Amino acid sequence: MTDRELMNEALAARKMAYAPYSRFMVGAALLAKDGRLFTGCNIENAAYSPSNCAERTAFFSAVKEGVREFEAIAIAGGMADTEDDALDTCTPCGVCRQVMREFCSDDFRIIVHDAAAGLRTYHLSELLPAGFGPENLS
Ligand code: THU
Repeated sequence: MTDRELMNEALAARKMAYAPYSRFMVGAALLAKDGRLFTGCNIENAAYSPSNCAERTAFFSAVKEGVREFEAIAIAGGMADTEDDALDTCTPCGVCRQVMREFCSDDFRIIVHDAAAGLRTYHLSELLPAGFGPENLS
């Protein structure tokens, strides 16, 4: 699957976002090392703190299927009335970066929209340098 195809899956997942409070809709598409794809959207809550980001929805969907090794994630986010091709960059929040750190190596790729380049790729090591992970507890 190409990065563009992965982003298209994130854009499709974004349509399912439940974001009546922020009106900021996010979709994520997570590619596992075995080729399987898991998507997610943000799911908000009237009590606010139980809300879940799109990235974590995708990760938790994969882990509950026994999948724990991942290649890349594409993320598409923006206000509800923003068209796909007008979306600005949406990078993952700190909590989602920490969830990635649990299951992914430094070279895990995080693909986001970029106004100039179309798509931009970060590595987890750039977005969460010197992170705390499972090996710290072994
Ligand atoms: N959100 C995500 O789902 N992923 C991100 O990368 C950034 C933020 C969600 C959380 C909340 O539902 C809304 O976007 C506004 O913060």
